[in-house]
Amino acid sequence: MTDAEALKRDAAAKALTYVEDGMRLGLGTGSTAKHFVDLLAERVKTGLKVVGVPTSEVTRAQAERLGVPLTTLDETPELDLTIDGADEIDPALNLIKGGGGALLREKIVAAASARMIVIADASKQVPRLGRYPLPIEVNVFGLAATRRAIEKVLEVAGCPGPISVRTKADGHVFVTDGGHMILDAACARIPDPAALASRLHSVPGVVEHGLFIGLASLAIIASPGGAEVVGRIGQ
Ligand code: A5P
Repeated sequence: MTDAEALKRDAAAKALTYVEDGMRLGLGTGSTAKHFVDLLAERVKTGLKVVGVPTSEVTRAQAERLGVPLTTLDETPELDLTIDGADEIDPALNLIKGGGGALLREKIVAAASARMIVIADASKQVPRLGRYPLPIEVNVFGLAATRRAIEKVLEVAGCPGPISVRTKADGHVFVTDGGHMILDAACARIPDPAALASRLHSVPGVVEHGLFIGLASLAIIASPGGAEVVGRIGQ
């Protein structure tokens, strides 16, 4: 395992200490969340009773393969705890998510949870969100018009862009689990993430965006010195 993977696993292991018997869990997506599901499965094998709602088809497949009992938000609309990774984390624990393309389900699951704990290595901590391109999930219908409207919103929000349509390594357009496309907006810095979040929601055709405002209650940040539990600053 590389040093970076070991750090992600440390954060995931610490997050596992917050899981209690009987909990209804949201299971995140991405390389850090994958470690959490691996470790959770080990505990399930030794008798821990939990049910999980996966935030992507990839996480569903992993959890099913490892024997983690799953449910859906239709069967279990309220969850106790979601553990998920992030692409950026600011001091108020506002996040950019969606680098793996699962932002829509990730946000629905996090919002249905009493608590969300974000797990990451220290490279994800930033003083201000925006260095990581902001993923915006859009309906395929009217893509060019939606893109133009998003560009206008970004301009007003002080984010210069440009915007690009996400593609896969093979050059084909990336399609989300929900059948939508993703526009990645290079913002450089987002002066007011909450304002941008609500402006983006006002654009018809925007299904969801990767700004997670006020959803995470704790972050577990792993660095070579250990995994540190970080609360919100400034909220
Ligand atoms: C998935 O859509 C994302 O929100 C991930 O949670 C995020 O990209 C973090 O992924 P890593 O843990 O792989 O960095």
